[in-house]
Amino acid sequence: MNQKIAQFEQLIREAIGHVLQVEQPQTLFDPVRYILSIGGKRVRPLLTLLAADLFGRDPEEALAPALAVEIFHNFSLLHDDLMDQADLRRGMPTVHRKWNANSAILSGDAMMIESYRYVSQVPSRMLPEVLRIFSDMAMDICKGQQYDMDFEQRLDVGEEEYLEMIRLKTAVLLGSALKIGAVLAEAPLVEASRLYDYGIHLGMAFQLQDDLLDVYGDPETFGKKIGGDILANKKTYLLIKALGNADASQRAVLDQWIAATGYDPQAKISFVKNLYDQLNLKRVTENLIEKYYLASLDLLTSIGVADERKKNLLWLSESLMHREK
Ligand code: IPE
Ligand code: IPE
Ligand code: MG
Ligand code: MG
Ligand code: MG
Repeated sequence: MNQKIAQFEQLIREAIGHVLQVEQPQTLFDPVRYILSIGGKRVRPLLTLLAADLFGRDPEEALAPALAVEIFHNFSLLHDDLMDQADLRRGMPTVHRKWNANSAILSGDAMMIESYRYVSQVPSRMLPEVLRIFSDMAMDICKGQQYDMDFEQRLDVGEEEYLEMIRLKTAVLLGSALKIGAVLAEAPLVEASRLYDYGIHLGMAFQLQDDLLDVYGDPETFGKKIGGDILANKKTYLLIKALGNADASQRAVLDQWIAATGYDPQAKISFVKNLYDQLNLKRVTENLIEKYYLASLDLLTSIGVADERKKNLLWLSESLMHREK
């Protein structure tokens, strides 16, 4: 265990416990309290605190924007689970299953608003810059999420388009979480941008891993339904590669499953997983993850701060590469 990270996690846990605790009506805020209380790795607020710490700022001063980032992330999960028709999140029923679709929409909106309240607490001289980063991030996630949904209906999504989609829906949030911490610590602009790029590369690896875990994860640990992406025809890296690399007969059956309705879900998941295995796509995806991870390390190395100060960020990125949830 890393002591500093454990200490930062504790800071985040305590602060999250106070978010929207006494607000009424319960029907609006219970789902908020629920999603924030059922865990999550808290990767993004950790990145904000670690970025502030990297440039010598007391992480407590970055706590409000760190919370903003985590609240925004959880808001996006409420809407994402509704849009993806997912039943499970962090091993628990999703908000739209436990309550209903309207709750996921409006409690999600309330969280998005709350995230702006938190981000507005940064010192006024930094507010314009931090708000700009936060709002650009928020709009990028909307774009990425829309591409993700649009791609469900398409069979011709290219690798480049996919990579841009995951940059927008996932990587930008990691990059922005870091950049906000750096800006608060008054890091030189060029260093803050390098840290953003480091987060982008780490985020690309993170989403590729999420795609992998959707197929190969342990259902107990992962906390989401295995095969959810397969059933939704999500254009994950694995499916794009399968569509490209399958021979004519494999491709014909794959196309049938993608177009099928009223099928046995487990049968579709088994077929697709088998095809991925035949095409060695777990390894192919792991290689790309490794490529992004190594590129992220190069970017971190290029930042002009003593190596000693980078070790906690390094520890976190390294531990994310072995994540099982
Ligand atoms: C889930 O993010 C959404 C993705 C970008 C894959 P996390 O895997 O960080 O989810 P929690 O917050 O730890 O539950
Ligand atoms: C992650 O997309 C990005 C957002 C939540 C915006 P996914 O749909 O892959 O995330 P999970 O797998 O449901 O966590
Ligand atoms: Mg989604
Ligand atoms: Mg989803
Ligand atoms: Mg996913």
